[in-house]
Amino acid sequence: MRYAAIVDRLANEGARAWEVHGRAMQHRREGRDVVILSIGDPDFETPEAITKAMVERVSSGDTHYGSIDGGPELKAAIAAYHKRQTSHDVGAENISVTLGAQGGLYGAAMCVAQYGDEIIVPQPVYVTYDSVVQACGATLVDVPLRPERDFHLDAGDIEAAVTPRTRAVMINTPHNPTGAAYGRDDLMALGEVCKRHDLWLISDEVYSRTLFDGREHVSPASLPGMAERTIVVDSLSKSHAMTGWRVGWTVGPAAFTRHMYYLGLALHYGPPTFIQSSVAVAFTENFPEVEEMRARYEARRNLVCEALAACERVRVIKPEGSCFMMIDVRPSGLTSQEFSSRLLDEAGVSLLPGEGFGSNGSGFVRLSLTASDEELSEASRRIARFAGTLNLPARSITALRRAPDTFQDHVKDASSPCIRRDLRSR
Ligand SMILES: Cc1ncc(COP(=O)(O)O)c(C=O)c1O
Repeated sequence: MRYAAIVDRLANEGARAWEVHGRAMQHRREGRDVVILSIGDPDFETPEAITKAMVERVSSGDTHYGSIDGGPELKAAIAAYHKRQTSHDVGAENISVTLGAQGGLYGAAMCVAQYGDEIIVPQPVYVTYDSVVQACGATLVDVPLRPERDFHLDAGDIEAAVTPRTRAVMINTPHNPTGAAYGRDDLMALGEVCKRHDLWLISDEVYSRTLFDGREHVSPASLPGMAERTIVVDSLSKSHAMTGWRVGWTVGPAAFTRHMYYLGLALHYGPPTFIQSSVAVAFTENFPEVEEMRARYEARRNLVCEALAACERVRVIKPEGSCFMMIDVRPSGLTSQEFSSRLLDEAGVSLLPGEGFGSNGSGFVRLSLTASDEELSEASRRIARFAGTLNLPARSITALRRAPDTFQDHVKDASSPCIRRDLRSR
């Protein structure tokens, strides 16, 4: 039987990087001693008041068809939250409740781009973006996030990648996998690029409540002239430890939100009613658990940074937010694939090779902070011990540690930093 071309576009590569995680899970099933830091599911419980509200709704029979893109109470709660974040007044007509942030990303891409269009995505990039762009048929244009800028955005690189076919830029701040949180100036500069070239800005803000060192989240939707071209994508998955609930939302122009409604009608006919009716409380009340989780991630980040600070053969990029951090393993003399594979086999720690997030992640491994302090301490000890066994001559370690990261290390053609990924099939 024949299938549509989209099925090939969705089954894309990047799977090799996940091989280490698959093996780590297998090791665990076999009862072997392994610390798994290759996945990003919070190890905390959903705040009890939210769970209780949901159970009550199910028990009271709220189990029938509900609203396709979010009921009025939930939309009003999200609108008030958005206003607190951005100072912009929005209403129900601007909000679409989605199945996780993932549903919002998919919907946003489907509504603004199609075959023949291009979407610019800074890379390393969260793994599903490729599928989302492939699904809508557009071409994903990679623009490298440079390690020497601690993976911060460079609006000049983005502008250099714009063509007449560009429809949107898709960003994520704070960023998975690098932990970079873009500041107001970076986002202002990006906003100017979007305005100059009449582009959408799809802004994935799922880690906006997980910022460190007193940083405040900046949503590009809050910047002058940006609300009408920004689609904010967010969810409760990480900040409220609710990955399994699949509660996300988009905030965007009313016309965009109408299109999301019809997409939801075709795709899922709305998120579960009893979940819609119970999670408004997550926006209206301040849960101490949310701040506690944020603070725990920050403490864990500090723990790993301190534990690995003296390690000669790896260099931690201190994250500013999210629940991930990148470790530069180039000084170890191994590729990130070799490093993570050998680290699992020889030391029982599972980290994800940076290539899983695109070619600009090569030379780095991603460590997830969604594990206990004890596990993170043990993992750090094992990483340091493993790195210490590597037989790289001292001279080359010093040279590598001194050498500034060069752009050319990360892209093949330095004069044209962006990389267009051709669609394998249409
Ligand atoms: C950057 C980023 N965007 C979106 C998502 C998907 O979030 P959700 O579980 O709300 O669909 C994730 C999940 O890890 C993520 O890291």
